[in-house]
Amino acid sequence: MPLGVFDSGIGGLTVVRALRATFPKRDILYVGDTARVPYGNKSAETVQNYSREIVDFLEQKGAERVVAACNTASALAVASLAKTRKIPVHGMIESGVAAALATGEGPVGVIGTPATIASGAYQKALAKARPGLRVVAQATPLFVPLVEEGWLEGEVTEKVARQYLEPLIREKIRVLVLACTHYPLLKGVLGKVLGAGVRLVDSSEACADALKATESSRVEKGELRIFLTDEPGAFLGRVESFLGKGAVASVERIHLPHG
Ligand code: DGL
Repeated sequence: MPLGVFDSGIGGLTVVRALRATFPKRDILYVGDTARVPYGNKSAETVQNYSREIVDFLEQKGAERVVAACNTASALAVASLAKTRKIPVHGMIESGVAAALATGEGPVGVIGTPATIASGAYQKALAKARPGLRVVAQATPLFVPLVEEGWLEGEVTEKVARQYLEPLIREKIRVLVLACTHYPLLKGVLGKVLGAGVRLVDSSEACADALKATESSRVEKGELRIFLTDEPGAFLGRVESFLGKGAVASVERIHLPHG
């Protein structure tokens, strides 16, 4: 049975890439809510409604478990979904927090969308797992459009990163959790701005590692099917440049109730 993965858009493909590297034989059904992206500036209720519809869709398609690759959905919707579904629903937070703590370092910085940071989900999970740990959280909303535009490096992106990260540098963070699907693509710039002394925790890799423990060893086909809530347009080309030619079995347009 396939693994369901969803995100507000195409950013969740960073998680798909990590999942495919860890589970090459696993079928993956990916929903990108391209008609309603971004989630990062929407209310909790809206993100919960969108996420519920997508999990319904993936359940109907036969997903055995679902990964909310979107950190905003993980922060705002996964706790309630996980309680009410028959199939397991995983978010990014637990694994990201575990990976940050495994470094044994602190203080810990967390960057994410305004909704993720305002929810306090990462801050609470880190405080619960390690009381007294200094955590510095910062919303970095311009990072998503910069990645969407393909501005993964260069003067402008570096300037934006410096401004956002300045308070975290002041607090002498030693670990930074990249709590958004898009941020692993900015690792180069983030590493440059923060310096070699700060460890970057890529939550897409942390999530794939955490799921490994829950996997059975059955051998399956390893197909990736993608469902989008808006017209695919040039999507396939972009995905193949990211995941490799022939990586995608199909791309279909779907309609969800609130779409
Ligand atoms: N996928 C979102 C996340 O990981 C970022 C893009 C958005 O705002 O929808 O938080």
